[in-house]
Amino acid sequence: MTRIRLALGLVAIAALAMGVASPAQAQATGKLKIGLMLPYTGTYAALGNAITNGFKQYIAESGGKLGGREIEYVVVDDESDPAKATENVDKLVKRDHVDVLVGTVHSGVALAMAKVARETNTLMIDPNAGADELTGPLCAPNFFRTSFTNWQPAYAMGEYAGKKHKSAVTLTWKYAAGQQSADGFKEAFEKAGGKVVKELTLPFPNVEFQPFLTEIASIKPEAVYVFFAGGGAAKFVKDYAAAGLKNSIPLYGPGFLTDGTLEAMGDAGQGLVTALHYADGLDNPKDKAFRAGYLKSYQAQPDVYAVQGYDAAQLLGAGLAVVKGDAGRKDDLIKALEAAKIESPRGPFSLSRAHNPVQDFYLRKADGRDNKVVETVVKGLADPARGCKM
Ligand code: PHB
Repeated sequence: MTRIRLALGLVAIAALAMGVASPAQAQATGKLKIGLMLPYTGTYAALGNAITNGFKQYIAESGGKLGGREIEYVVVDDESDPAKATENVDKLVKRDHVDVLVGTVHSGVALAMAKVARETNTLMIDPNAGADELTGPLCAPNFFRTSFTNWQPAYAMGEYAGKKHKSAVTLTWKYAAGQQSADGFKEAFEKAGGKVVKELTLPFPNVEFQPFLTEIASIKPEAVYVFFAGGGAAKFVKDYAAAGLKNSIPLYGPGFLTDGTLEAMGDAGQGLVTALHYADGLDNPKDKAFRAGYLKSYQAQPDVYAVQGYDAAQLLGAGLAVVKGDAGRKDDLIKALEAAKIESPRGPFSLSRAHNPVQDFYLRKADGRDNKVVETVVKGLADPARGCKM
């Protein structure tokens, strides 16, 4: 008996000396598999590409590794289609066995993704989708966001517009992001003494705006607030100007309206005032280095989506550094992610107890191809995380 034990002990010591890994160690030495689930087609295609570019830029700056591990990508085009989301994420988790899920842009797709992530206890980092629930009633230890809640930029914009105007009409795509954005705007706008007199919606990703523009012209509110992004945003702003409304009724929105879309809008976009957690012309060295690196790698200017992708990789890197690349040490990894302080191009941010950035919001004004920073409208804005029990 003792001899057998001694023999086993010797084998174990020999194995250690030879560097033979235990299963847990083996996990920390192979490539780290990242499932990138993002839109690469449809109205949000440019957003998915910018997030991917930003993510890969940080990995490249880190020598192709996070926490000492090389990276392998499994990439899925989710088409911003909630109907295909569960099948897409199932493939990444159950067939490809990714270590981490990174995605996505569309709130409806992200909700389906997070459901599978929760059920399988897979770490998920959300580099855009703002669905309030994900860091509200559905908050979870394995879910982290490097972007915003739909409430955040909407609330910041509402606070600003509420100081200038008494009435507003909102117009959005009818899905989680649009509705929550309109709600956040209304909350702040009405707190400041204004009144949202009409809430208009159209199905995502429709761009038949004409009947809504006619209705807005007949209501004559003092201001209009819209949530649109990507290709749809460019079309809306052009239609708003062509309808003759640009010079009579000020148009506001979260900065998604004008981020990455100004070139396509041409003159119609010039002068638009929006609120967002990123802007062009921020005076910080991290942003300057990030922008120079992005321009060199992609021959393009980065936008908010590129920043959020970059920060998703930064956050993951900060966590993996603590667990030395062993993504299997889930509890330690989550603690490290929770404690991370991110030096973002947007300015530094930390995460709330619900795992959402607590961050400054800037007022920006469209000038040429830039959303130039005008001022900080709300400092250190935290989402109220209503319903989060963590
Ligand atoms: C969302 O669906 O949450 C969403 C999409 C595009 C944006 C912002 C939010 O630009």
